[in-house]
This record gives sequence, C-alpha cells and structure tokens, in this order.
Amino acid sequence: MITQKFGFALLTVLVLGLNMACAPKEQSTAAPVKSAPVFDTQQSIAELMQWVIDPAADAIWDSVSWVSNEKGTKANAPKNEEDWKALRVHASILVESANLLMLEGRAKDQDVWMQQARNFGLEARKNLKAIEEKNVDKLFDIGGDLDHACESCHLKYANYKTETTVK
Ligand code: HEC
Repeated sequence: MITQKFGFALLTVLVLGLNMACAPKEQSTAAPVKSAPVFDTQQSIAELMQWVIDPAADAIWDSVSWVSNEKGTKANAPKNEEDWKALRVHASILVESANLLMLEGRAKDQDVWMQQARNFGLEARKNLKAIEEKNVDKLFDIGGDLDHACESCHLKYANYKTETTVK
C-alpha cells in the first residue's frame, strides 16, 4: 500500500516535471495582453498651444531675419552649434506636437482636424530638415508656410489668428 502510494506520488512528480520541461515555448514568449494605451490629455489644447507649440514656433520664427541699414542687408541667423541645437529642439517639439494634437481626447474630429494636424506636422518637419542642414535661406523662406499651417487650423477650429492671441 505504502509503496503503491509512494509510487503514485513519484509518478505524479515525474509527470509534472516532464510537463514543465516540455511546456510549449510560447509560455515565455507569449504575446502580452493587449490593452489600449492610456494617454494623459489633461493639458487642454489652449495650454498645449501656449506652453508648448507657440514658444517653440516663436523660437524658430525669431531665429532668422534680415536686417537692413545704410551698410546693406545682414542676416540675423543662428551663429554657432549651440544655436542650431537649440533650434533643433524647438523644431522637434513641433514635429511631435502634431502627434499630440491627434491623440484621442484632443482630436476634435477624425477628418479635417487630422488633416490640419498632419499638415502642421509636415511643415514642422521641413523646418527640422532645414535646421539639420543649417540652411538659413530655406529656414527663412518656409517660416510663412508654418505660420499658414497654424492659421489654417485656427480659422477652422479657433476662429482667430495666431498673432492676435499671443500673450
Ligand atoms: C490642428 C489645429 C491647430 C494647429 C495646427 C495649431 N493650432 Fe493653435 N489652436 C488651435 C485651437 C483649437 C485653439 C483654441 C484653443 C482654445 O481656446 O480652446 C488654438 C489656440 C492657439 C493659441 C491661443 C491659446 C490661448 O491662449 O487660448 C495660440 C497662441 C496658438 N494656438 C498658437 C499656435 C501656433 C503658433 C501654431 C503653429 C505653430 C498653432 N497654434 C497650430 C488649434 C491648432
């Protein structure tokens, strides 16, 4: 009786052990349970504009200008590596901000809003490229296109122009 019970227990242990050893490999590489990402969209669009997007855009717009005086025309442009790096941060913020505007909880619709945000992102990307190329002329030329991307969305969703609201 005792040996029989012991034998049965041993068999159980063996079977269990075998089971674990031969357990299908998927157990360790099993796909993680899918769950929707949780985005923090507590910052309102107005806050995102005022605190993130507007300062970054201003830094880019202020970085290049042409100053004329009796001696001729002089470009006011980034002077050194540090200036370019700072600009790159700002352009990068704008590129990513386009994505932030498209998040669920921020997007005002799935159609025109998305197009506006995407267009803004593309213009921001062009600025980032010009900055990476350290191309002052290009940066100056495309500044207006970026501004247009802002205003085009404002005309549809905010009903005012950027300049009139900057504090
Ligand atoms: C996809 C749409 C969209 C784009 C692109 C966009 N904005 Fe806005 N912006 C808005 C909306 C909507 C508001 C109004 C928010 C509110 O009042 O609730 C706003 C408001 C603002 C405000 C006023 C915030 C306040 O004090 O109420 C500023 C400043 C601003 N945007 C700057 C910019 C600049 C600069 C750009 C481009 C570099 C830009 N925005 C691009 C949608 C956009």
